[in-house]
Amino acid sequence: MTFSKITENRANRFRRALYSWTGEHPREMPWKGERDPYKVWLSEIMLQQTRVEQGMPYFNRFIRRFPDVQALAKASIKQVLKQWEGLGYYSRARNLHETARWIVRSQAGRFPEEYSSILRMKGVGPYTAAAIASFAFGLPHAVLDGNVHRVLSRYFGIDQTMDHRAGKKLFEDLADRLLDKEQPARFNQAIMDFGALCCTPKNPDCTSCYLRNQCFAFKLDRIGQLPPAKKSKPRRIRHFHYFIVADPGGQVVLSRRPAGDVWPGLYEFPKVETDGPQAPKVRPAGVDLPPRAKIGKAVLTDKQVLSHQVVHGYFYLVRMPETPKNQLTQPVDKLNRFPMPGILARSRKFWKELLS
Ligand code: ADE
Repeated sequence: MTFSKITENRANRFRRALYSWTGEHPREMPWKGERDPYKVWLSEIMLQQTRVEQGMPYFNRFIRRFPDVQALAKASIKQVLKQWEGLGYYSRARNLHETARWIVRSQAGRFPEEYSSILRMKGVGPYTAAAIASFAFGLPHAVLDGNVHRVLSRYFGIDQTMDHRAGKKLFEDLADRLLDKEQPARFNQAIMDFGALCCTPKNPDCTSCYLRNQCFAFKLDRIGQLPPAKKSKPRRIRHFHYFIVADPGGQVVLSRRPAGDVWPGLYEFPKVETDGPQAPKVRPAGVDLPPRAKIGKAVLTDKQVLSHQVVHGYFYLVRMPETPKNQLTQPVDKLNRFPMPGILARSRKFWKELLS
């Protein structure tokens, strides 16, 4: 079946059922109905790899701290990363910040207004560009992400992933065909909400679904098989051993993470990585620990699951007789000024209580 063959009638039926469902299942979100491109852009970047429930408080805080593109452009990257702390995928924050500066300095503060120029912004792919173009500017571009793919795969009975060009193209054409060109923002928001709340990956709520009479998967009892599962790669397991190097006054050593690995530019404690959970035989490079500094058992262990990695953290306390030289040191009660990966941010209070 090619989807240019979908009749306007069929497309209309799909839209009507979708709008009936969303009309009866309103979903409150702070960016809903928003037309300010800055706020739309921020919300869409935040939601790229973040669930709505997790993103909402971050969105509200971020907007309070940086209410417009000028405020964001004026901020330092450290301040921006601090607002992003715990959300993960920090390159999103870096791209936002860089792009805000570009908009203010090179575009006289004007946000790009065409799909093709929105798509050229750093960190913006076709999905995000379509969302911004439709929500902020009312342009007829259909969003297509995993949620939309799932809805369309089930409704039309298309047993294909989007991991290859042909599959992607097929779903793009279909989404374009279905898009409500008169109300692209309404349609895009509706299909996102429907995919997130009703046509969920597991246990979709078919009993309350207004599309089910036309839904291939529902009628043929193929909900469990559609969309086809993607092959997932196993996550890389990593073991990070962190050394809390503290002087008697509660100053601890911090270092900045390098580019080219997880969490670039965030702050952490001196660290040794090992292949397994066993304590390392070597000490963190660049920190002058006295040769006989005692390093006992880990006083804390934790774990953070990322999209492609699992990081196990082991934390050792090293008490120093005096403040280490040539190091970035900070009072333990001021660590919250530094953006840190979640696995470290979580234990700030613990170190504060232990050392101050
Ligand atoms: N995911 C991405 N963009 C979204 C939006 N505008 N509303 C809900 N979920 C989303």
